[in-house]
Amino acid sequence: MDKLIVNGGKPLSGTINISGSKNASLPILAATLLTSEPVIIRRVPDVSDTNYMLQILRALGAEVERSSGTVRIHAANIIPNAPYEIVRKMRASICVMGPLLARMGEANVSIPGGCVIGDRPVDLHLKGLGGLGAEIDTEGGNMLLKAPNGLVGKEIDLRGKHGPTVLGTDNLMMAAVLAEGTTIIESAACEPEVIDLAEFLISLGAKIEGAGTRRITIEGVKSLGGTDYTVIPDRIEAGTFMIAGAMCGSSEGVTLNRINREHIEIMSKELIAAGHDVEYSNNDTSVTVKPGSQPKGMKLTTAPYPGFPTDMQAQFTALCAVTPGISVVEDTIFPQRFMHCAEMARMGSDIKVDNGTAIINGVSSLSPAPVMASDLRASAALVLAALKAEGKTDILRLYHIDRGYEHIDEKLLLLGADVARVRE
Ligand code: EPU
Repeated sequence: MDKLIVNGGKPLSGTINISGSKNASLPILAATLLTSEPVIIRRVPDVSDTNYMLQILRALGAEVERSSGTVRIHAANIIPNAPYEIVRKMRASICVMGPLLARMGEANVSIPGGCVIGDRPVDLHLKGLGGLGAEIDTEGGNMLLKAPNGLVGKEIDLRGKHGPTVLGTDNLMMAAVLAEGTTIIESAACEPEVIDLAEFLISLGAKIEGAGTRRITIEGVKSLGGTDYTVIPDRIEAGTFMIAGAMCGSSEGVTLNRINREHIEIMSKELIAAGHDVEYSNNDTSVTVKPGSQPKGMKLTTAPYPGFPTDMQAQFTALCAVTPGISVVEDTIFPQRFMHCAEMARMGSDIKVDNGTAIINGVSSLSPAPVMASDLRASAALVLAALKAEGKTDILRLYHIDRGYEHIDEKLLLLGADVARVRE
């Protein structure tokens, strides 16, 4: 297992490129199962989650080639049984359920287990696929879905008690593209990653309208073709490095290339409101973030896109931990997603978590301490805290961060950070 040693307290400056989006790549890779034609996908980040998805595709019978960010997939002959050993490692594996069911009339995928950020049920995925006519059996830890006579389009409301579901919308959209007739998804997720999946499916020949709104209409087609597609930039990676700029940037600041301004607008807005300096290039393809001279506390509540993303909650909490005054950060989507707070307390932060809300009393400095990464975004928060704390912080269980941040140590080195990846 690797750990990251961060010798913090160094001002960061320079320019890095933002990678392709992990959360757009995962469903797009799964969607390649919908076609027997060859597909090329570009800018797939080299992170362990995309590697798990490629392993699943191979196990299902697809031919997969990867050379740096470009992935070639040919799912000419596939089987409907996703292997438990790989599926259990990543919740996003459930994205293969919709495509397998639509193409094979059958899907057999293990029920994903609990997860450190919350319960994460799959009821809405099953409601969507069941609505298209799939018979569903959940026995022995597996979900067995069958539609021997094919799926039939329907109007389905996917709203859950915590709002819309991103991967649930994806699964239903992927199944509906090959269903007979029209499917309407009401209360659909509007995240940029859902739009990217829809664009990818359209490039294969699917008929989809309204992605990016709460109502998506899909007209089923008989079969799909091939494509050459490039995934969108990772807005959460961009947001994480924007916070690095606000917390630790030099007077020059941290510049990020290959961004999509619209996707990171809410992060910019909150950083500016907290007193930091956020400037875009003329063509909006890069952004520079510098620390403000008089930063102030924040009040943040997570919400579905275009609201403040739950995937940025931990990193903003790290920023609040060293911002003078009181900040309040509430996570309504994953109220249990505050594992980073206990670890940051070991570094001297003053944070109280109660019922999905963190009350943060900003401290003037953090001190280094060995800390343990618990999940992807919590680990990113610990890296940010360690970059700020003067001295050496060891971040253990780095594999959590490698699930979703492409070569984070190399990018930090480019910005002048003193970091080293070593074997534990
Ligand atoms: N939910 C249900 N029933 C379902 C599905 C979801 O009640 O069947 C609830 C969840 O428990 C949660 C809410 O609905 O309270 C929203 O969850 P959602 O289904 O949208 O989450 P997801 O699709 O499983 C994706 C991202 C997550 C991100 C969430 C929310 C991917 C691969 N994952 O998960 O990303 O936090 O949307 O935006 O796209 C991450 O990248 O670190 C990460 C966890």
